[in-house]
Amino acid sequence: MKKLLNMQTDCIIVAAGSGKRLGAKTPKAFVSLCGKPLFVHSLLVFARHRSIASMILVAPMAMMKKARSIVSGLQIKKEIIIVAGGEHRWQSVKNGVEAAAGTWVLVHDAARPFVTHRIVTSVIAASARYDAVIAATPEVDTVRRFIGDRAMETLDRTAIVRVQTPQIFLRDKLLAAFELARSLASPPADEAMLMEAAGIPVGIAAGDPLNFKITTKEDLEIAEALCKCRG
Ligand code: CTP
Ligand code: MG
Repeated sequence: MKKLLNMQTDCIIVAAGSGKRLGAKTPKAFVSLCGKPLFVHSLLVFARHRSIASMILVAPMAMMKKARSIVSGLQIKKEIIIVAGGEHRWQSVKNGVEAAAGTWVLVHDAARPFVTHRIVTSVIAASARYDAVIAATPEVDTVRRFIGDRAMETLDRTAIVRVQTPQIFLRDKLLAAFELARSLASPPADEAMLMEAAGIPVGIAAGDPLNFKITTKEDLEIAEALCKCRG
């Protein structure tokens, strides 16, 4: 089933990770960026997008109360549901998808605060052709395989993309694909991998290099600098 352009979608923002690599005192999605908790930046972008019907914020169990109080202070008119996350990312997404009601679900990392209206629109537009779509950017570096300290062959960069979120899925097909998660050798990095495992073709839409994921302390420093220079 292909999507009609005027059909709205629910948006799941996964914010239930601990942020081990960032190493902050609070879970990563609640760390302050330019005076706002990290997850609030993307939440506001989705709140303003005409194609988004409602938002589902997936928060760590221990942060549910805090999440509720932050969200109620934002005075967003669209419905925002807050649910608790799981151990692995896909389990957090599953909890969010189960709380969604619509035919389509958009999934976004709270750790990508610089998502734009344009990226959301491009992902949604590609869902007219695919039941699963990822935002992605071209690889710009030379990339190689390696073993230990030994460089192996250089890969064809033009055949590689860098995967981002948002990603959009036909909700019923994603729910069915979750059944495969435990049979994979390791937890899937994203839900597009689950759709792929279920034999569903995954489309690509234009992401943006500035829609990078905040993983380390250095990423947070870059994000602060970007916020400041944009005023
Ligand atoms: N996430 C989640 N539930 C999990 C794990 C991750 O909701 N069990 C979310 C994170 O909150 C984040 C997104 O998935 O917005 C991408 O994950 P990642 O960048 O790996 O964040 P963390 O898992 O929090 O960081 P780390 O891996 O360094 O601990
Ligand atoms: Mg993680």
